[in-house]
Amino acid sequence: MAVKLLLIALLALASSNAILASDPSPLQDFCVADRNSKISVNGFPCKNMDDVKAEDFFFCGLDRPGNTTNNVGSAVTQANVNQIPGLNTLGVSLVRIDYAPNGLNPPHTHPRATEVLAVIEGELYVGFVTSNLNGGGNRLFTKNLRKGDVFVFPQGLIHFQFNTGKTNAIAFAGLSSQNPGVITIANAVFGSRPPISDDVLAKAFQVDKNLVDWLQAQFWTDNNY
Ligand SMILES: *[C@@H]1O[C@H](CO)[C@@H](O)[C@H](O)[C@H]1NC(C)=O
Repeated sequence: MAVKLLLIALLALASSNAILASDPSPLQDFCVADRNSKISVNGFPCKNMDDVKAEDFFFCGLDRPGNTTNNVGSAVTQANVNQIPGLNTLGVSLVRIDYAPNGLNPPHTHPRATEVLAVIEGELYVGFVTSNLNGGGNRLFTKNLRKGDVFVFPQGLIHFQFNTGKTNAIAFAGLSSQNPGVITIANAVFGSRPPISDDVLAKAFQVDKNLVDWLQAQFWTDNNY
C-alpha cells in the first residue's frame, strides 16, 4: 500500500514537472512586458494596465522576405516577446523563414518550445532527431514538404529545414513559448566565445585537433533576425 502511494506521488510530481517545462499559464487577461522595469523576473513584469495599447499586441512586416544573403542561405524573422511585448506570459510566438535555393536553416533546437511549421511557397526537406534512445542511438524523422504541408518539431529536439526546390521557399511557424530560444548546434559547439578546448571537441567528435581548430576559425552565421 505504501509503495502504491509513493508511486502515485512520484507520478503526480513527474506530471507537474512536465507542466512546468512549458511557459507558465497566465494569471490574468494579459501581462504586457514592461521592458523598462528594473525588476528582474522569469519573463517580464507587467506594464501598468492604463498604459497598454493595441500596438503592444501588434507586429508588421512579415509580408517582407528576410535577407538570405548569408553563409546558410536562409533567414528567420522572429515575432516573439522581444518584438511583441503583449506576448509576455502567453506562451506562443511566430517566425517567418525564408530560404534561397539550396538554403538551409541549419540543425538547431528551441530549448523552450515545440514548433509547428507550414510551407507557404516552395519545397523543403525537413527533419528532427530524437534524444538518445535506451540502448544508444538517435532516430531521424524526415519529410519532403510542399506548399501547404505542415510538420511538427517536438520541444528541445535538433531539427533543420533545407530548400530542395529551384525557387525561394517560405515557411511560417508557430512556437509554444513567448521566448523559444535558439541553439544553433554548429555555432554553439564550434563558435562559442571563448572557444571550447580543442581537446574536448577532438575527443567528442572523434577527429583530429587540426580539424577542430579549422572549424573553430570559421564564421558561424546566426540566421535569426
Ligand atoms: C543582405 O545582406 C547582405 C549581407 O549582410 C548585405 O550585403 C545586403 O546589402 C543585404 N541586402 C538587403 C536588401 O538588405
